[in-house]
Amino acid sequence: MLSEGVPYGKLYFIKEKIGLSEGDLQALDPYREIFVQRKDQFAQHFYDVFENIPETHLILEHEGRPGFLKKAWAAWFEFFFRTRLDDTLLAYLWRIGVRHVEVNLDQRFSNLGFSVIRQFCYDIVLSEIPRDQAAPLLNILNKMLDLCLLIETEAYITHTTRCDLEVMKEVADRVRNPVTVIGGNIRRLQKKLDATSKEYDLLGRLFVENQRLERMMQDIRVYMEVFAGEPRVRKVDLDELIGLVLEKLRAEDPAARNGVNVNVNLDRRARFVTGDADGLQLLFYYLLQNSFEAVAPDTGFIEISSRLEDGTTRNMRVEIVNTGAPLETQEMERLFAPFYSTKVTGTGFGLAIAQVLARKHYGKIDLEPVSEGGMRVTVTLPRAERNGDE
Ligand code: HEM
Repeated sequence: MLSEGVPYGKLYFIKEKIGLSEGDLQALDPYREIFVQRKDQFAQHFYDVFENIPETHLILEHEGRPGFLKKAWAAWFEFFFRTRLDDTLLAYLWRIGVRHVEVNLDQRFSNLGFSVIRQFCYDIVLSEIPRDQAAPLLNILNKMLDLCLLIETEAYITHTTRCDLEVMKEVADRVRNPVTVIGGNIRRLQKKLDATSKEYDLLGRLFVENQRLERMMQDIRVYMEVFAGEPRVRKVDLDELIGLVLEKLRAEDPAARNGVNVNVNLDRRARFVTGDADGLQLLFYYLLQNSFEAVAPDTGFIEISSRLEDGTTRNMRVEIVNTGAPLETQEMERLFAPFYSTKVTGTGFGLAIAQVLARKHYGKIDLEPVSEGGMRVTVTLPRAERNGDE
C-alpha cells in the first residue's frame, strides 16, 4: 500500500518548516501547464546528465525494466506540477526515497538530481515567464524542491541507519544466547571441582569475563534501541524518578551500594523536566551506576542536586557529584565513546547510552573532575513549563 510506514508526522513537520502554503500553490496555478508540457523533455535531459556520469551510467545501463526510469521521471515531473500538498504527495516522495535506498542509489546523486531539476525549472521560468512574475515563482519552486530533497534525505537516513541498527541488534541477540549457555556450563563445571583448586579459580575468572560479555550484549541492544527510538515527551517528576533509580541500583548490589551515602537535594523550581520518563530513567540509571562504581562502598558519598541554568528558565541542570579516585581530563573525553571503559568489568556503554539519551532530549552531559577527588556530572535538560508549586 502506498501509505504504509510513511512517517507523516515528520514529513508534515518538514513541510511546515519550509513554509510552503496553500497561497503558494495557488500562485503556481497559472503556470503549472507550462511545466507539465515539458515533462518528456525533462526526463530526457535528466537521463542525459546521469548517462554521462560513470557510476550512474552503470545504473541506467543495467535498468531492470528498460525505459522505466525515463517514464518514471516524466511521471514524477508531471505529478510534481499538478499536485496539491497532501498525504498522497508526501507518501509518493517518501516511497521514491525508500526505492532509491533499495536500489542503493548514493545520496549524493539524489542531491545532484535535485540540483539538475532546479536548473531545468529555472531555465523554463527565465525563458517563458514575464520578469516581474519570475522571482516569486522561483521562490515557490525552491520551497517545493527543498521539500522533495528533505523527504528523500529523511528516507535515506531512516532506512540506512535502520539497516545498521538492525544488524547490530541481531548480532547482539545472537551472541547473547551462546554466551548465556557458556556461563551456565562454567558454573556446572565449577560445582564438580574443589573450591580451593587452581582450575576452580580459573573457571571463576572465565565466568566473570563471560558475564561482562553478556552485559555488553545487553547494553549494545539498549544503545541501539535508544539510538533509534523517539522520546514520548511529557512532564516528568525528577525527584520521584531518581528515587526509583536509586532503589533499583541498590537492589542490584545491596552489599556494595547500601552503605553509600546518597543525598538528593533538588531545587523546587528545577524538579520537573520535559522528557520521556523511560528514557530519563535509563539516563540517570547509567549515570548513577557509574557514580556507585566510582565510590568506596562504605565511606562513599553521592550528592544529587538541581538548579535552573544560569540566565535562562528554559533549561535546568542536574548535578551528580561523587567521591572517588580522580580521572584524567583526557580520559573524561573518551568516557562517552562506546566500548571505552576504565573498569575491568565495564562494558563501555553506560555513558554512551546516557549521552545519546541526553541529546534526544536536546540536552547534554558534562563531566569534570572534583578537586578533592571524584567527579561532577552535569546534565542539562529542558525544564517543564510549570515547575513545582510556581
Ligand atoms: C533526484 C531526483 C529523482 C527523482 C525525482 C526520481 C524519481 C524516481 C521515481 C518516481 C521512481 C519510481 C519509484 C516507484 O514508483 O517505485 C524512481 C525509481 C528509481 N530511480 Fe529515481 N529519481 C531521481 C533520481 C535518480 C537518479 C539520479 C538515479 C540514478 C541514475 C535514479 C535511479 C532510480 C532507480 C534505479 C529506480 C528504481 C527503478 C525500478 O524500480 O526499476 N533516480 N526514481
